[in-house]
Amino acid sequence: MTQVGIIGAGPAGLMLSHLLHRQGIASVVLERRSRDYVERRVRAGVLEQGSTDLLASTGVGERMTREGLAHDGIKLRFAGEEHRIDFRRLTGRGITVYGQQEVIKDLIKQRLADGGEIWFDAEATGVEGIDGDHPRVAYRRKGEEASLTCEFVAGCDGSHGVARVGLEAKSYERSYPFSWLGVLAKTPPASNELIYAYHERGFALHSMRSPEISRLYLQVDADDTMDAWPTARIWDELRVRLAEPNLQTGQVIEAAITPMRSLVTEPMQCGRLFLAGDAAHIVPATGAKGMNLALADVKVLAEALTAWYRSKSRDLLDDYSDRCLRRVWRAEQFSAWMTALLHHDPAGDPFDHKLRLSYLRYIVKSDAAATTLAENYVGFEVA
Ligand code: FAD
Ligand code: DHB
Repeated sequence: MTQVGIIGAGPAGLMLSHLLHRQGIASVVLERRSRDYVERRVRAGVLEQGSTDLLASTGVGERMTREGLAHDGIKLRFAGEEHRIDFRRLTGRGITVYGQQEVIKDLIKQRLADGGEIWFDAEATGVEGIDGDHPRVAYRRKGEEASLTCEFVAGCDGSHGVARVGLEAKSYERSYPFSWLGVLAKTPPASNELIYAYHERGFALHSMRSPEISRLYLQVDADDTMDAWPTARIWDELRVRLAEPNLQTGQVIEAAITPMRSLVTEPMQCGRLFLAGDAAHIVPATGAKGMNLALADVKVLAEALTAWYRSKSRDLLDDYSDRCLRRVWRAEQFSAWMTALLHHDPAGDPFDHKLRLSYLRYIVKSDAAATTLAENYVGFEVA
């Protein structure tokens, strides 16, 4: 028995557990993978100011402040040209590059130091009784079936989770005819800023994790597997698309293909079950919003649960989904727009290609257009 049963030890679940603990609310986090697995899982890397503020103001930002890389803009490359979008000048804000698995490590360390309960290798198999006062999470651990009784359940179990299954909700969805091949490589970043490159052969992105480690992405076909991408081909393609003379090859530490998808579940709650992060919504990675949305959701949810435990008022809990969805849809629109702007459409309408180039030129010439990109990228406050 616990107050809040949390399914999933990703950014959403761990941060929720941490925020609740700070308010004296008990939780148990059920995670189907091992600690080692979740701490090594390479994913996103861009933190908006709202996310860094949340980590720092709640005592889990010390390493991020030290090791995170502060960026004030990005580079856009297309048609042999390079342009810089100066976020700081246009919005007064910037971003921090800090790997998602580092956020995960920091949160797990803090939860365990605070005596928090994270049950690794415990897979939730279903959620029951969400219309009553004591919902239960059924789970399997070391071959044993059991259930955890709680007062609330937070489904933070990502895009393939079980929490969403029983929810009576509408899904809005879009798939894309391409995926991203992400590479983590032992080579110094070829540029001090992120490079978003639109190329006729497809999109490419140059990012980083540290002065020694680069994070690189390539648009690939939706049905491609890693078999089609031997290491030499990855580097050749990155060289051509990024057109970056400083790019050096290096040992590939990790390489994987991730599909691009947009999905929103509405509402994000039912009875005593609340969804947060990828369990409720997915964005294509181009806008770097996934982890930021996950953290923003649980900040709202923790406030609502705190209000309930303080005063037994359900008002904030009832508003949870509406409050989150305003931000979610802004991020969905921005992510879909960035994706359409920067990816080559395999069906290849030449008119669309010309429209993209024209829009990119408009962005780099017009402060109004550049500000639209910049203020969404650094995180637009909808409320
Ligand atoms: P997750 O991080 O997915 O956490 C969910 C957790 O729940 C996981 O630890 C999972 O193991 C656990 N879980 C799932 N089912 C169960 C169950 N039944 N029982 C118990 N535990 C369960 N975003 C970007 O912005 N840029 C990127 O480059 C990028 N790359 C990505 C690459 C991949 C392969 C994936 C899957 C996502 C990527 N994202 C990226 C998205 C970003 O990482 C997510 O938006 C972010 O992880 C969302 O956090 P979350 O806590 O909601 O979900
Ligand atoms: C990274 C990931 C993104 O999806 C993005 O748009 C920018 C950077 C990264 O992993 O560093």
